[in-house]
Amino acid sequence: MQDGLGWIGLGRMGEAMVKRLLSGDHAVKVWNRTAAKAEPLAQYGARVVPSKEDLAGCDVVFTMVSTTDDLKEVLFAVGGLVAGSVKPRVVVDCSSISLEGSAEIRARLEALGVAYLCTPVSGNAKVAKAGKLLMVSSGPKTLFDRVEPYLQAMARKVLWVGEGELARVWKIAHNTMFGVVIQNLCEITVLAEKAGIPRHVFLESINESVLGSMYTRYKTPVLSNLNFDQVTFTPRLLLKDMDLGMATAKGLGVSMPAAAATRESVARMVGRGHDQVDFAVLLVEIARDAGLELRPENVQISDGLES
Ligand SMILES: NC(=O)c1ccc[n+]([C@@H]2O[C@H](COP(=O)([O-])OP(=O)(O)OC[C@H]3O[C@@H](n4cnc5c(N)ncnc54)[C@H](OP(=O)(O)O)[C@@H]3O)[C@@H](O)[C@H]2O)c1
Repeated sequence: MQDGLGWIGLGRMGEAMVKRLLSGDHAVKVWNRTAAKAEPLAQYGARVVPSKEDLAGCDVVFTMVSTTDDLKEVLFAVGGLVAGSVKPRVVVDCSSISLEGSAEIRARLEALGVAYLCTPVSGNAKVAKAGKLLMVSSGPKTLFDRVEPYLQAMARKVLWVGEGELARVWKIAHNTMFGVVIQNLCEITVLAEKAGIPRHVFLESINESVLGSMYTRYKTPVLSNLNFDQVTFTPRLLLKDMDLGMATAKGLGVSMPAAAATRESVARMVGRGHDQVDFAVLLVEIARDAGLELRPENVQISDGLES
């Protein structure tokens, strides 16, 4: 047995996920490019290390970074996790990355004798903090069985969908719907408000209808109160996911007209300069297109995650 668990990437998601592992009594060594984000985890019991190479002796290393290129960089670039002579046994990547990038990473890791499990997740940082993520894996089933107890410490539900990169397809499909649903939810909310229905009342009606979901409930407070500075997921990350969806559809010969229209709308939001804000700012852009200036409603509404 090598030296426990390692973690690379302590952004919104990584930080919340590591805290679940730590509170499940797992010893974790952590590294983040911006060291200031890693240091506070020491008080939760994490061992903060100054370089990725310090995690190379770990049995299992989790990664949660932004894009395919970022994952390649933390693994293979100079000073990367597997660039030295000591290597971890297993890498479990939880980032949302491309199918092709993931397959290339698998081939490179396996050639180095490092096993690889893709485990993208559904749920934002607040969901992760509550231990309510959905985690979906693909790769060797025996490997999944081995790391499942760690996944269970972070999730309400853990699933294995098959070999290879299938979990990437799952996540890409999932996040394509994530984009299409917010696009349509914003469109119909603007329609209702322009006609005279207060936003929070309209959103509550959707939440109570057959169309309501955990997702529509999570987004109701921000869509009502317009507090986009409480970031769950950025416009740029959503654009990355819509692009992954469109590229995968093209590769498989699948027509996705609703996703294509949403991709353009999200690209326009990013192009208009929305950056370090919540992606729900899409509502403001759709309202502007309708000649509607929105105001915060300043209402107390639960996102369903408080209990
Ligand atoms: N937020 C969500 O609701 C959500 C939900 C499900 C899945 N995801 C996916 O999860 C992943 C992380 O999302 P997030 O919201 O946690 O993003 P985030 O807050 O922007 O954090 C990104 C993390 O990746 C690190 N990173 C990025 N590029 C790097 C590089 N080249 N080298 C080293 N470290 C690098 C960042 O380090 P620094 O701190 O130094 O910048 C940070 O720790 C993304 O793939 C996203 O699509 C997000």
